[in-house]
Amino acid sequence: MNDAERLTALADRLKSLRGLDEDTFDRLVTALDRAADRFGYDAEGRLKVAFFDAQSYDIASFDNANADRYAFRYIAAALGPDTAAAAKGCKAVCIFVNDTCDAEVVEVLASLGVQIIALRCAGFNNVSLETCEARGISVARVPAYSPYAVAEHTVGLMLTLNRRLHHAYNRNRSGNFSLDGLTGFDMHGKTVGVAGTGKIGRCVINILRGFGCRVIAFDAFPDPAVSAMDGVDYVEPDQLLSESDIITLHVPLVPETRHIVNQSVIGRMKDGVMLINTSRGELVDTRALIAGLKSGKIGAAGLDVYEEEAGIFFRDLSHQVLTDDVLARLMSFNNVVVTSHQAFLTNEALANIAGTTLENLGEFVEGKRGSALTNAVSLS
Ligand SMILES: NC(=O)c1ccc[n+]([C@@H]2O[C@H](COP(=O)([O-])OP(=O)(O)OC[C@H]3O[C@@H](n4cnc5c(N)ncnc54)[C@H](O)[C@@H]3O)[C@@H](O)[C@H]2O)c1
Repeated sequence: MNDAERLTALADRLKSLRGLDEDTFDRLVTALDRAADRFGYDAEGRLKVAFFDAQSYDIASFDNANADRYAFRYIAAALGPDTAAAAKGCKAVCIFVNDTCDAEVVEVLASLGVQIIALRCAGFNNVSLETCEARGISVARVPAYSPYAVAEHTVGLMLTLNRRLHHAYNRNRSGNFSLDGLTGFDMHGKTVGVAGTGKIGRCVINILRGFGCRVIAFDAFPDPAVSAMDGVDYVEPDQLLSESDIITLHVPLVPETRHIVNQSVIGRMKDGVMLINTSRGELVDTRALIAGLKSGKIGAAGLDVYEEEAGIFFRDLSHQVLTDDVLARLMSFNNVVVTSHQAFLTNEALANIAGTTLENLGEFVEGKRGSALTNAVSLS
């Protein structure tokens, strides 16, 4: 008998009942409650969690933090319409930045009985919150795990491009020890424009102040603590564009920030500007960026994210040809460094991600739902 047949048989028995004493009624209700509670838990009573896009470093950090409290089902594939069924039997799913969790996928998860989506990242632009709310699915995230990790990678990209470390590494390995073409500039005294002065933007600012940079910043909600820092000024976007030698993006991806770097915006930047994006790929119109690189308007670009990265980043595609022409063109520039969304990847960040995700799941097991979860993501 399968689930549906068992339920039909039970319903038939109930329909044929002609009376029920109180004691039997109570025992039946208790049994039904237990049966309902068992869904999504394994034989040891551990919450079953379908963990999509599981990479070796995820499995290591989650197994280490878990200590067997939750039953993780590690799934190598990313979540999407074709893979959502792998969550069957689980009440929880755990996803990352490139999993697809749009309305269609949320509907499938809801039909499987999933009740919580635990994001193991800060951004939630890949989740249809409307559908989650309509289907009563809670969403939680890891609001901060190590802004230092992302900020340090951001500055690493600046230094790599400025001092041509990617060229020097390759040249020296092939026996070319000449310095021709490797001239950089002092970071000291340069103007860096920081778009978004939240947790990561603030860390970037602190590192840059150590270099002796002048920092100009823009944020929809300026932070008085940032305004109070020596050598840091909030300015209007146009001033940031026209005065910055380096521009670095740390705003989230929301409808208003999609393609905030486009052809018109690039046109207002300083000639030869360096652009760094470690936030989200869709902040930048990649075709406009390529045009800017070809014309020389953009002198260098450091990208940890790319608008079409899903299905490419986090995968070993070295055995096949790269079919994304835009990414291929981008990587053909010798003044562009692309890393595959690795800015977060430090031991400390991974441990914090696992720890907070387990806390989020723990609150769910204790009965918290929706906005009652400490790290809830909700529409309001
Ligand atoms: N590459 C990676 O590995 C990686 C890792 C973590 C986070 N990220 C990205 O970094 C982003 C920033 O992270 P955070 O922790 O600093 O976030 P945060 O929420 O602390 O800061 C975001 C800042 O952007 C500002 N902002 C929001 N909308 C804006 C708008 N329309 N215009 C101007 N400013 C706006 C906010 O006021 C806030 O100060 C995340 O949204 C995520 O996309 C990338």
